[in-house]
Amino acid sequence: MKRLVSGIQPSGTLHIGNYLGAIKQWVELQNDYDCYYFIADEHVIDTKPRPVDLRERTLETVAMLVALGVDPKNCVLFVQSQIPEHGELAWLLLSFTTLGQLTRMTQFKEKSDRHGQSVGLLGYPVLMATDILLYDAEIVPVGEDQVQHLELAREIARSFNAHAGQTFTEPKPLLTKAARIMALNDPKRKMSKSVPGSAIGLLDDEATVTATIRKAVTDSDPNSNKMSPGVENLFTILEGFSTPETATQFGDKYKDGQLKYSELKEQLIEDILAFLGPVQKTYKSLLARPDQLERIIKEGTAKARPIASAKLAIVKKNLGLLS
Ligand code: TYM
Repeated sequence: MKRLVSGIQPSGTLHIGNYLGAIKQWVELQNDYDCYYFIADEHVIDTKPRPVDLRERTLETVAMLVALGVDPKNCVLFVQSQIPEHGELAWLLLSFTTLGQLTRMTQFKEKSDRHGQSVGLLGYPVLMATDILLYDAEIVPVGEDQVQHLELAREIARSFNAHAGQTFTEPKPLLTKAARIMALNDPKRKMSKSVPGSAIGLLDDEATVTATIRKAVTDSDPNSNKMSPGVENLFTILEGFSTPETATQFGDKYKDGQLKYSELKEQLIEDILAFLGPVQKTYKSLLARPDQLERIIKEGTAKARPIASAKLAIVKKNLGLLS
C-alpha cells in the first residue's frame, strides 16, 4: 500500500473548506492507502496561541477529525509534538533550504503582515517538509494553498538526496475539485477562519449556517455568459454535500437559465445542516470523554514514532552523524 501523509493545524474551528478540500478525501482514502494523519500543533506556535487554548484546540481537533470519519483503527492519527523526531529532522533540513525559497512562499508574505516576521514563520515550510519526508509519503492530500509548500518539500528532498545519497521520496499533492473553496462573502478570496462571513464553521449552528449561505455573494457580470465565481463556488459546495442527482438537477436548471439562486441556497442550507447535525453530535460526545481522546493520541504516537525514529536514524547515518 502506498504511504500517505497529511496534517491540519489546531487553529480554532475547522470550516467546510478544510473538510471539502482535505478531510473528506482523508476519510475516503483510508481503505486504499497506508494513511498517517496528524494535528500540526507545532505549526501554530508561530502565531503564539495562549497555551491553554492550544491544548484545548488540539484535543478538539482530534475529536472533530474522528467525528468527520477519520478512523484511528484504519489510519495512524497522531499529534506532531508527541514525535520529537519532527523537530530534529527540521533542523537538519534547514541546511538544504535557501532563504530565497522561503521568502518566496505566499503564506509567509500573507501571514508575516499579521504575525510578524519570526524565523519560525519563515521556516514553517521546512517543518512541513519534515512532516512528509519523515514518513516517506508518496502522496499528500491537501487543498490548493498547500501546493507551493509541497513543491518546496520536493526541492528539499532533491537537494538532500544530491548531497547524501537517495534518502527521501519526493511527495506529490493530491487535490480534489474542491481544492479551493472560496469565501462566501468574497469569492475572489480563499475561505478562511479568520475573516467573518467568509466561512461556515463545522460547529456553526443552524441560524449561522442559514444566515451565512443566504448572504453569500452570487453577483454575475451582466456582460459575461460565464458562471460567476460566487455561483461556481456554491456549486462546488453543493457537489460536496448533496447527492450527485441533486447536483446534476441544479446544474441542468442553471444551463436552462431556470435556476433561482435562492433555491440553490435553500438546498445548500438543507444539505449542509443534514451533514453537520450528526457530526456535531458525535463531536460533543467525544469531547465529553477526554480520556478516550488521550488514548487515541497515545496509540497514534506509539504507531508513528518507530517509523519516524527509524527514518531519522537513516538520515543521520547518511549525513555522517554518529549513531
Ligand atoms: P490548514 O490547517 O490551514 O488546513 C488544513 C487543510 O485544509 C485545506 N484548506 C482548504 N481547502 C480548500 N479550500 C479552502 N478554502 C481551504 N482552506 C484550507 C488546506 O489546504 C489543508 O489541506 N500547512 C498545513 C498543515 C500541515 C500539513 C503538513 C499538511 C502541516 N504539515 C504536512 C500536509 C502535510 C496547513 O496549514 O493546513
